Amino acid sequence: MSLNLLPMANQDLQFQVTRNENAASPEERAQVLENPGFGQHFTDHMVDICWSERGGWHRPRVQPYGPIQLDPAAAVLHYAQEVFEGLKAYRHADGSIWTFRPEANAARMQRSAKRLALPELPTEYFLDSLAQLIAVDGDWVPSQAETSLYLRPFMFAKEAFLGVRPAKKVNYYVIASPAGAYFHGGVTPVSIWLSTTYTRAGHGGMGQAKTGGNYAASLVAQQEAYAHNCAQVLFLDAQEGRYLEELGGMNVVLVKKDGTLITPDSDSILEGITVDSVLTLARDRGHRVEQRPVTIDEWRDGVASGDIVEAFACGTAAVITPIAEIKAADGRGIVMPEVSDRLAMSLRAELTGIQYGRVEDRHGWLHRLDA
Ligand code: PLP
Ligand code: COI
Repeated sequence: MSLNLLPMANQDLQFQVTRNENAASPEERAQVLENPGFGQHFTDHMVDICWSERGGWHRPRVQPYGPIQLDPAAAVLHYAQEVFEGLKAYRHADGSIWTFRPEANAARMQRSAKRLALPELPTEYFLDSLAQLIAVDGDWVPSQAETSLYLRPFMFAKEAFLGVRPAKKVNYYVIASPAGAYFHGGVTPVSIWLSTTYTRAGHGGMGQAKTGGNYAASLVAQQEAYAHNCAQVLFLDAQEGRYLEELGGMNVVLVKKDGTLITPDSDSILEGITVDSVLTLARDRGHRVEQRPVTIDEWRDGVASGDIVEAFACGTAAVITPIAEIKAADGRGIVMPEVSDRLAMSLRAELTGIQYGRVEDRHGWLHRLDA
């Protein structure tokens, strides 16, 4: 019996690094970093760690970025057993590279994996995978204001097997993509389409997991949003169609005249790390924060009475973006008032200040990646 085939879950992963011989030249890289957009360009390398039922996590590698070979019967292609994460690497003024609350992403990925019957990647492996990628692709972290390197860890069922059961072979990857603003207009207030035809997730479903299926479910509604000149779609709860859930790729927050922040509490939305951070910063400033069920009527009536004065979307990709209006098929949209001093923008400045090392990190949210 060979002992070295035992699961490696309690051992340090030793990454094998293979350099990309066709890496972008410094000039090519500089050209991309000048105007990165979102999700269009990728760095020279990626992380790949295998998992098998028998061998646990093994064969950690940093290798040239490139296509993944899949058997046509790979379970992910048929049953969508997949989870992912999204976080950013920020360059500080002294050149150092940091990320924001990565332990929270690691923990969320473990919860998502559990829901999708995938293996849980230990937090230290998750953190190490990011540092390993930055060790070879650190030059891809841009330095202009408000730019970053978006990190996309993901994991899926690779086993070739058409029976419906959790896969016994899974791979975890990390790719990275230089990022500017998520929305075309930068941080100008966005219009949001209220979906009354489609829902994203229901009670007991996968809504709390960051899994591709939830995004697939959002696409047709997102198409409707684009058709109505809206940047994102707002979903309501699947049961009653009254309660706010979240946007296709962001959480939503309302601000009352008295400074209270309200965000939906639901077991079918993603537990956003940005919204959690923003609410923490608001509490620190003495704002009241309510995480509770909130209806679209409460929002509409609150704006009509002057009680609700701001609304904003927040997430890693979008950071914090004010909402200008909600458009709805029945014509009962919501137009947010013009506000000169938006709380959303001031919280955005504080949050990004922390992320870029300009504001004191009093909650210990930053994690250095390049040391
Ligand atoms: N909700 C959805 C559906 C998302 O895709 C995201 C983005 O990741 C969020 C909320 C916000 O989560 P976070 O702030 O952790 O990025
Ligand atoms: C993120 O913010 O990380 C997301 O996954 C949202 C997606 C719309 C890019």
